[in-house]
Amino acid sequence: LSVLSVASEAFPLIKTGGLADVVGALPAALAPHDIAVTTLIPGFPKVMRAIGDAPRVHHWPHIIGTDAWLRAARIGEHRLLVLDAPHLYAREGLPYVDSDGHDWHDNWRRFAVLARAGADLTSGAVPGFDFDLLHAHDWQAALAPAFLHYAPGPGPVARSIVTIHNIAFQGSFAAHHFADLGLPPRAWSIDGVEYYGQIGYLKAGLRTADAITTVSPTYAEEIHRPQYGMGLEGLIAQRAACVSGIVNGIDPAIWNPGADTALAAPFTVDTLDDRIANKRAVEALFGLEQDDRPIFTVISRLTWQKGMDVLVEVIDDLVAMGGRLVVLGSGDPALEIAFAAAALRHPGRVAARIGYDEPVSHLLQGGCDAILIPSRFEPCGLTQLYGLAYGCVPVVARTGGLADTIIDANEAALTTGVATGLQFDDVTPDTIVAALRRAMRLHAGQDRWRIIQVNGMNADYSWRQSGRHYAELYRSVLGYS
Ligand code: ADP
Ligand code: GLC
Repeated sequence: LSVLSVASEAFPLIKTGGLADVVGALPAALAPHDIAVTTLIPGFPKVMRAIGDAPRVHHWPHIIGTDAWLRAARIGEHRLLVLDAPHLYAREGLPYVDSDGHDWHDNWRRFAVLARAGADLTSGAVPGFDFDLLHAHDWQAALAPAFLHYAPGPGPVARSIVTIHNIAFQGSFAAHHFADLGLPPRAWSIDGVEYYGQIGYLKAGLRTADAITTVSPTYAEEIHRPQYGMGLEGLIAQRAACVSGIVNGIDPAIWNPGADTALAAPFTVDTLDDRIANKRAVEALFGLEQDDRPIFTVISRLTWQKGMDVLVEVIDDLVAMGGRLVVLGSGDPALEIAFAAAALRHPGRVAARIGYDEPVSHLLQGGCDAILIPSRFEPCGLTQLYGLAYGCVPVVARTGGLADTIIDANEAALTTGVATGLQFDDVTPDTIVAALRRAMRLHAGQDRWRIIQVNGMNADYSWRQSGRHYAELYRSVLGYS
C-alpha cells in the first residue's frame, strides 16, 4: 500500500512546529505495516540544500499559472518528492511569512501548487507515479483532495485523508483567485471550496476528503463546538462519521534521553540520578542560581493559543514560591518583550532565550524539572510527550491532546501509581498559580515526584500505537477491512 503524504514541513528539513515532527515520523511509523509513505514538500531553501542535486523526475510547464520541477530524494529512509519552483519557494527565513512577519502575498498560489502537484501525483497524471492514498496535512495541503474530487486526472484517483493539526489556521484567500485554480465553476459553492465569500483551503479539504483526522481524540470532539471549531464546527459535525482523532507519537530516534548528544549527561529511567548533571548544565547555560528547587521550562511558540499571555503574568508568583523558569521560544513580539523583561526583573531566577534552538530544547527537557503548557487549545502537543520521555514533568491545561496524554497527579492517581503530570482547568492566572503551587509541593516530597517522573518515562508514546491506528484508518478508507 502506498501513500503520498503532502505537507509544508518535515523534520529535519524544515520545521516551525509539531507538524514537521509528525510528517517526518510518519514514514517510519507506517513501514512496519507494509505501508510505504512518500512525502511531497515544497523546495524551500533548507530543503533544496539538504537534497543536493537530487534528480528531476517530472516537469509541470503550467501548474496554477506557473512552472515547477519535481525532484526525488531520500533522507535516510525517508522518501521525498520536492517541488522545485524557486519563484515560489526560494525565500530564506520562515516558510509562510516575510521578514516583517506578514504572510507572503502569493501564499494562495504557493500552496495551491503544492496541492495540485499532490493531486496530479495521485491521479495518474504524472507518469511513473502511482499511490493508493493521498494524505494531506493542514491547510497548506488541503486543496489536494478538492483537486482530486473536482478535477481528477486521467487515471484511477487515490482516496484521500486530511489531517487537521490546527484548525485555527485555515488558509482563506480572496475569491478572485478561484479562476486561477482551474477548478470547475461548480466547485464555487458552499458544498465546495467557498468559505464565507472566500476560498477556504482547509474547508475545501474537509468537504471533499474521504476521511478527516485530527491529532487527538479530545480535539476531534472539541472541534465540533464553536469555541474550538473556529467556524468549521458545522462542517465537522456534518462529516462527523468520518472524523477521528489519532494521537501523535514521538520519534525515539530523536527523543531518547539515553542516547541524546544534546544532553550534558544521558540518562535512563534506571539511571535517573544522572539527570542532575543536566540541571546543573541548564543553570550554567542560562545563568541561573544553583538550587535544588524546581526549574520550570517553556519551549513554545509564544502565542495566545499557548496561553503565554497568561503565563507571563504569573512569573512573579512563580519566583515568589521559590521556583525558577527558563523560556525558549519565539512568536508575538509583545510576548517576547514581556518574557525578556521578566528575565531582567529576576536575574538568576528567570531566563528567556528568544529564538529557536533544537539542541537547547533537548537539554531543557533533560535538565528542567517540569514543563509548563498552559494552552487555551492544543490539538495534540508534542512537548508534553518529550517531557514525559525525559522526566520533565508536564504541567498542562486540560484540553485537546494534553488531556489525552497526561494523567493528573490527584490523590487517586498518586495512590494507584499512575500519575504522569499535573493538569488544570481553564487558563487563568489563578489556575496556573494553583498548579504551580501543587507542583512545588509535590517536588518537595521527593519520592512522589520521582514516581511521577518514572511513570512518565515508562509511558509508551512512541509511534507504535499511533502507527497502527493510521494503518487501520488507511486500510478502512481503501475498503480493505
Ligand atoms: P505546535 O506545533 O503547536 O507549535 P507542538 O507541541 O506540537 O506545538 O510542537 C512544537 C515543536 O516545536 C516541538 O518539537 C518543540 O520542541 C518545538 N519547539 C517549539 N518552540 C521551540 C524553540 N523555540 N526552540 C526549539 N524547539 C521548539
Ligand atoms: C499543531 C498543533 C499541535 C500538534 C502539532 C502536530 O501545530 O498546534 O498541538 O501537536 O500540530 O500535530
